[in-house]
Order: sequence, then C-alpha cells, then structure tokens
Amino acid sequence: MARILLVICGGIAAYKALELIRRLREKGHEVPAILTEAATRFVTPLSVGALSNAPVLTDLFDLDREREIGHIRLARAADIVVVAPATADIMARMATGRADDLATAALLATGAPILLAPAMNPHMWAHPATARNVARLVADGVRLVGPEAGEMAERGEAGIGRLAEPAAILAAIEDILAPDRRLEGRHVVVTSGPTHEAIDPVRYIANRSSGKQGHAIAAAAARAGARVTLVSGPVTIPTPPGVTLRAVESARDMLAAVEAALPADIAVMAAAVADWHVEAAAQKLKKTASGPPALTLSENPDILATISRSASRPRLVVGFAAETENVIAHARAKLARKGCDWILANDVSAGVFGEAENTVHLITADRVEDWPRLSKEDVGARLVNRIAETLAD
Ligand SMILES: Cc1cc2nc3c(=O)[nH]c(=O)nc-3n(C[C@H](O)[C@H](O)[C@H](O)COP(=O)(O)O)c2cc1C
Repeated sequence: MARILLVICGGIAAYKALELIRRLREKGHEVPAILTEAATRFVTPLSVGALSNAPVLTDLFDLDREREIGHIRLARAADIVVVAPATADIMARMATGRADDLATAALLATGAPILLAPAMNPHMWAHPATARNVARLVADGVRLVGPEAGEMAERGEAGIGRLAEPAAILAAIEDILAPDRRLEGRHVVVTSGPTHEAIDPVRYIANRSSGKQGHAIAAAAARAGARVTLVSGPVTIPTPPGVTLRAVESARDMLAAVEAALPADIAVMAAAVADWHVEAAAQKLKKTASGPPALTLSENPDILATISRSASRPRLVVGFAAETENVIAHARAKLARKGCDWILANDVSAGVFGEAENTVHLITADRVEDWPRLSKEDVGARLVNRIAETLAD
C-alpha cells in the first residue's frame, strides 16, 4: 500500500480522475488529493473526497487545513505524486519552477517521483511551447504516461492528447513504485501494426490493425527492463518510451527488419502481416476505357515461420492468430505449422482491430490458458509476466 498524492487539474478529462481514485483505492492505496482552482470547475472536492475517503485540498492559504496538514508535509509524505489530468498550464508552471498555488507548491516541495498524465487538445499538445515544457520536465526526471491518440471531447477533433486510460496510469504508478526488471539484459523484438502492400506509387492494400496490441507488448517489455526493438508497419499511435522503432511498410520490409534486429532472446510477432503483395506498377495506374486493371498477387514471406526456423532463432517465439471461428483449434494448428513456441489467439469476429480491449487465449505445446477480457496494456503486461516466468525456469 502506498500514499499517492493525486493532483487534479482543470481539464475536460478531470472526471476520469474519479475512476482512477476508485481503482487506486481498490488496490489499497491511500489517495489524498489536491485540486487546482480550475479543477474545481470540472469536479467537486466533495465527489473526490467521497471516493478517496482522504483529505482533499484546494487552497494554499487555507489556514485551518494548513494547520491540520501542512502542504510541505503532504508533499513530503507521498510515495509518488500523480498529476492526472495534467494541463498544458500546470506543465508550463512546473517547467519554470512556479509555486503559485497549492498544486505547484506541493510539486516543488516533494522529493517523491512525479508522474504526469497529460490531457489536452491535440493542437495544445503539439505546440512547441508544450513540447519544450515536456522536454524540460522529462530532463528534470518527471515521468509521463500518455497522452494517447483518439477522439477529443470537442466534436470532430482527433489526434494525440487524450488522457491515458486509468489502467495505463495505474500500471505506470505501480511500475514506479515497484519496478519489475525481470527482462533486464534481454533483447525483445516485437512486430506491430499492419503492412502496406503497394499497388503503384500512390495506392496500397492494407488492413485494419492499429498496432495497439503490439505497441502495448513492446511497452510492457521495456518497462520490465528489456532492450526492445519494435518493428512496426504504418500506425498513428506513439512509440512507447524506451523502445527502438524500426518503421517499415511492406511484409518483405518487415521480415528484413526483424532479421536485421536478431539476435534476440524473445520475438513477439503481433503485426497483422499481409499474406500477399501486389506486383506493383512503377507508375501510377491510369483509369482506362478498357476497365479496371487486374492485380497480380504473390505470396509474402511468412515472417513467423521464417524466424521460428532461422539459425538465429530467439529462445522464445510468440505468434498471434486472429481467427473468426474455431479459434483454439486453428491456433493449435498454426503453432505446429509455424514452429513457434506460443500463440496468442484472439477471436476477431467481435471486432478487435483498433479496440482498446482484447480477449485472448495463450496456447503452448501442452496447454491453453483462457485469459479474461483485458485492456491491450494488460494483455501486454500479462504476456511479459509469462515470458519472465518462463525464462526464469
Ligand atoms: C471547458 C474547458 C476545457 C478545458 N480543457 C483543458 C484540457 O483538457 N487540457 C488543458 O490543458 N487545458 C484545458 N482547459 C484550460 C485550463 O482549464 C486552463 O488552462 C486553466 O488555467 C488550467 O489551470 P490548472 O493548470 O491550474 O488546472 C480547459 C478549459 C475549459 C474552459
């Protein structure tokens, strides 16, 4: 159990701090909170206090509160200070060492690690001033979780700026409080995302993979101390911290990048690799009176099978099987056919591509583990945990 000082700022995502408090309390943590003046416009100290059952402070100059629990003592007694949501404004004030309200005074006074979960409009996040402040804070040792890509509260706005999901914030907090370094000294290669198979210089065939699952696995492996090479097809999500990205387009590029990344201890092949490529035209195909062109498809290399049988095969090779029926039987057959060690099989008939959650089965040579429906971050953490257990045997 830890004492987590939660600073809530004045952003539209402030309501999600309530869900975070609930989850932290479920884990047995103590969660005193500070609301900025602006935060009180979005959530009330009453609802925060009702969920946290701990002190909620808003005013630096509240004499009664200050006598009861001084802001310096509050800051010093925390095991970690979490700012969620962190506004552009508080990051600017932190980056310049301001202490003009209770939140920034506590952030300046604490000796505990600080975790920021930024949330703002994508234009605010992309602004050079914000980027400068974030870089300054990271250089000062502040940790970040998110922001994530997605739809904004403002209608029609999308981009990077959404508050990280409570589960991801929780995982980041737990990682700071008790870092798991079981993959220290290991090299993990993860593939992620779709592949793009060119038809001509401007057109391509792709699939609906978002890369969320592969990226979450890469992030979890990096958190566990591994050196991670993430070979990713074109995606719109950010590269997880501490991961080396090799950006590729086609399946053939992906195989070459994976082979170049070897040797590795572990390979997790989570990318949705196209089975075929097109005999691409050198020039843009023109619309003609004789009708649409015929596309000639050729087989792509099988990355999972190639790596599983390569001379520099990693000790543990994990594949993915997206199935729409007979999930386990098909995945078992795939395990044998490809020569990999494990398959994570998911039923994609219910729509998994681009979703935040996943229901998977871990299939090994001798057993099947049915995992509950989990966030893709939790699937990543659970897989990395199983990998660490297996390598320790
Ligand atoms: C409706 C509304 C939504 C806002 N949402 C955000 C947001 O998501 N992120 C952000 O950085 N600022 C947002 N702001 C601006 C902040 O509230 C403003 O910068 C404020 O000074 C932040 O104060 P604080 O950092 O002390 O909490 C929003 C303002 C309004 C009126």
